[in-house]
Amino acid sequence: MNLAEDTLPNTAVIEGPVSVSGTTTPPGDKSISHRALILSALADGESVISDLADGDDVEHTARALTAFGAELTRDGNTIRVVGGALHEPAGVVYTGNSGTGIRLLAGVAAGLPALTVLHGDASVNRRPMDRVVVPLRQMGAAIDARANGRFPPLTVRGTRLRAMSYDMPVPSAQVKSAILLAGLTADGETVVREQLLSRSHTEEMLLARGADIHTSGTTVRLRPSRLKALDERVPVDPSQAAFWIVAGALGEANNMTIENVYLGPARRGFLDVLLRMGAQVSVEEPTSTESGCTIRVLGAELHGVTIEPDEIPGLIDEIPILAVAAALASGTTVIRGATELRFKESDRISSTARMLAAFGVGVTEFDDGLSITGGTELIGAEVDSGGDHRIAMAATIAGLFARGRTTIRGMQAVGTSYPGFLDDLNRCAPQALVAESEHGDQS
Ligand code: S3P
Repeated sequence: MNLAEDTLPNTAVIEGPVSVSGTTTPPGDKSISHRALILSALADGESVISDLADGDDVEHTARALTAFGAELTRDGNTIRVVGGALHEPAGVVYTGNSGTGIRLLAGVAAGLPALTVLHGDASVNRRPMDRVVVPLRQMGAAIDARANGRFPPLTVRGTRLRAMSYDMPVPSAQVKSAILLAGLTADGETVVREQLLSRSHTEEMLLARGADIHTSGTTVRLRPSRLKALDERVPVDPSQAAFWIVAGALGEANNMTIENVYLGPARRGFLDVLLRMGAQVSVEEPTSTESGCTIRVLGAELHGVTIEPDEIPGLIDEIPILAVAAALASGTTVIRGATELRFKESDRISSTARMLAAFGVGVTEFDDGLSITGGTELIGAEVDSGGDHRIAMAATIAGLFARGRTTIRGMQAVGTSYPGFLDDLNRCAPQALVAESEHGDQS
């Protein structure tokens, strides 16, 4: 399968303001897709995953698991995985742009009697790995990384691990998941404690596959377990739905419906913030045929709010698009306690601030967040995604509300998580996209 990034335009030009309306079903949840692949590769037997996220991040995890010996067969977004017999990869394992992929696979490799070398693209190779290196070393894996254990490439010599009790210094589902994946083959009970609850897909999906795992509040306990194969349908990614929810929530004529969206408690924080801002949103709970919710949103006047530090883990990936909502709302929005944003695909505190400033928005950057003065008209801007998919998509939505032309460079970054983003844009705002570069055209 080709990577989406190679088939997408590098530059898109949006002419605003335009209205947005329609129904979309964005891709399957990226976090669930990575885990469905990894847990199926660890499980005994054949699993079938449908509606898998179609972005490059998940594709890289699929390819990585093949290198570990899982058998994967694909039919569109349905993938059949035969797992249970992972072995040493024959070459270095590339995880692309995905922090989730590299950190979770480090947890898998720690418990395999194998030498594994993991690396990623330029962005991943700048992202902190000490957060997984430190706990996995405590469990007995011989794991190292460039710059004194800080950055990829990672080398992991897996072994029979010691179970441990670990208090997480930062809330991170990726770190929690790496430890739990390692804990599957450790010699006793692995305990992970978080200060604030991060997304809990790994715990829920391990339980569904028969693992001996118990969660109480922010503490997870896992005993060594073999996993059983499971067929699973991946619901829509709330982080991708968020772009259309914000697009529909502002502007008098706007009206969006997003179907089959996963809205578990650790992922719906952005919706709670939008409701506090005055958004007109209704949520229909899942029907018997869908596993996700239908979200309907109508344009309304929004007002600024304060997003508190304890809310951040539940909406960390939605901050760039919430910042766009804040720019279009009246009053000031303050976001604090979000230092973790500096360690994403880009330094998202700076890249979000730069993106908003380009549209003429008043924005102040703090070490741990942003203050955004909303309510002034956005002026068409030139924005570079810096290779960050969420900045490319947030800037596109801002461009729909801005007067004049917005040029987004580095648009191909959306291939990481949402290859069909511009197709959905063309359906819901047919006049908005006035030009795009040829595929691979760097201009
Ligand atoms: C993810 C967890 C979050 C999130 C990332 C996906 C996951 O990162 O930002 O996009 O799938 O576990 P952290 O766990 O590092 O906060």
